[in-house]
Amino acid sequence: GPEAARLVASRVLDVPDFPKPGIAFKDLMPLFADGQAFRQVIDEIVAYHGRASFDAVVGIEARGFVVAAAIAYATGVGVVPVRKAGKLPRAAYSASYALEYGEATLEVHQDAFTAGHRVLVVDDVLATGGTAAATLDLVERAGGTVAGFTVLLELSFLGGRQRLAPRPVHALLTV
Ligand code: PRP
Ligand code: MG
Repeated sequence: GPEAARLVASRVLDVPDFPKPGIAFKDLMPLFADGQAFRQVIDEIVAYHGRASFDAVVGIEARGFVVAAAIAYATGVGVVPVRKAGKLPRAAYSASYALEYGEATLEVHQDAFTAGHRVLVVDDVLATGGTAAATLDLVERAGGTVAGFTVLLELSFLGGRQRLAPRPVHALLTV
């Protein structure tokens, strides 16, 4: 709701020209560092989806891990990491994508989910949607069902929501 949006808006820092010239980086570390605000936004995400609507939560390396672990602890479901290439120790599915600043590959363990597992996917920021699109594909390839996708901050001018359509995107704050 509006309170969660206000918490995010007041705790995001704009960092110009990071990691490359022309990129305005959205740094949510001040939100993570504020224990009360962080707890409120986590509770808001859980309330939005309903704690009975998912069986696992996926966090996208690296900043999505922070959000995913908190939701998992708050709800008692497990965390499944989607990791950058080469980090997972066992057989994994891979998906490559173009990022606003470069290219990347994400991976998930092939045995991460059992059939019908309902998976809530979370990340800190939705920008172009490349990261999220690759992750949602990986979840489905590994046998999961995407129950929802939530970010703390959506940068609407980069078109991520359109790229993910018709899948719904939930953002605590859209700018
Ligand atoms: C950032 C952010 C999202 C992604 C959004 O991650 O945390 O995961 O970019 O961009 P997109 O919608 O254009 O794909 P980044 O790849 O910088 O890595 P990090 O989380 O490890 O810092
Ligand atoms: Mg990220």
